[in-house]
Amino acid sequence: MNDLTFSLGQNPSRVVFSKIETIFHSTKAQALYVIDEFVAENYKNQLEPILAKPGNGFFVLPSGESSKDWENIRKILESAFELGLARDSQIIGIGGGVVTDAASFAASLYLRGIDLVLVPTTLLAMVDAAFGGKTGVNFGGFKNMVGTFYPAREVRVSTHFLTTLPEKEFRSGLAEVIKSALIDDSNLYDLLANRKEDIFLRKSEILDEIVFRSLGVKGRIVEADLTEQGIRAHLNLGHTFAHALETVTGFGTWSHGEAVAWGIGRALELGVQLGTTSRSYTDEVIRLLKDYNFTLSISVDSDELILAMGRDKKKQEGRLRFVLQSGPSATFIQEVPEAEVRKVL
Ligand code: GLY
Repeated sequence: MNDLTFSLGQNPSRVVFSKIETIFHSTKAQALYVIDEFVAENYKNQLEPILAKPGNGFFVLPSGESSKDWENIRKILESAFELGLARDSQIIGIGGGVVTDAASFAASLYLRGIDLVLVPTTLLAMVDAAFGGKTGVNFGGFKNMVGTFYPAREVRVSTHFLTTLPEKEFRSGLAEVIKSALIDDSNLYDLLANRKEDIFLRKSEILDEIVFRSLGVKGRIVEADLTEQGIRAHLNLGHTFAHALETVTGFGTWSHGEAVAWGIGRALELGVQLGTTSRSYTDEVIRLLKDYNFTLSISVDSDELILAMGRDKKKQEGRLRFVLQSGPSATFIQEVPEAEVRKVL
């Protein structure tokens, strides 16, 4: 698979499809490795000789969303300081979105910004979290409330990691892949529609292709709008509904992807309700999501969902804003009265 390079802010950000044998290597004299605890255990043999190299250090981040907090950022910064990381050193984050967000946030703060390489090990992190420069931690009970924009210089991708990913996590990433296809890649949509068996079998050639194409969609958008002043918000298709569901049911009940898949269904139904989206497009997408075993009818208290939407940090001046679609690759943002939203909950 060819590498991808996007210009994010002042600097290029490269996505390199790497060999698993060399994916953890550092090109710098010194590196602090921030590693998800499961990955540290599962890839012990590959990691140990690298971590033992003089000058290198590591910090193992416990798995799970609750690790994305200030205390762990402080610990990562402390490790960097104790190791004596200097401007010419680097931080390498290895894991899912929790690790890539936290390692990136710490990298953006240490010495006002240090070289950053990310190795995403989940599908969700490969196609979304690790690329595009959003960093952060959860704060005050809200996800990603505090953070920076700090794109990794290099994101190293190997779909080899996906061979052992639990089914729930794999499907979680697939929801974001489907979202990317709807936003701006009809070829990716066709692959999802026609190669479902191979995707479920996790054949490397098709996984490389869907990751490459998803990153292409995200890269083109983020290149145009790194700090989400406009078009980047299109990447939040389905997410206002999804975040509300995650908040109301408690994080972890539905995986992020399951919530996003449900949210995409609700967003398209909302478009139908408003007369901006066709019934046939909505039905076709809902059929695809169901083909990927996503649950599209979830009964949750609508008052609680509306309340949670109002608290979403993406709200603007208290009004409910949604990313909607009139068709494939036709995405727009609209403020919608609460009464209309209730009709699709
Ligand atoms: N996950 C959406 C974004 O990166 O903007």
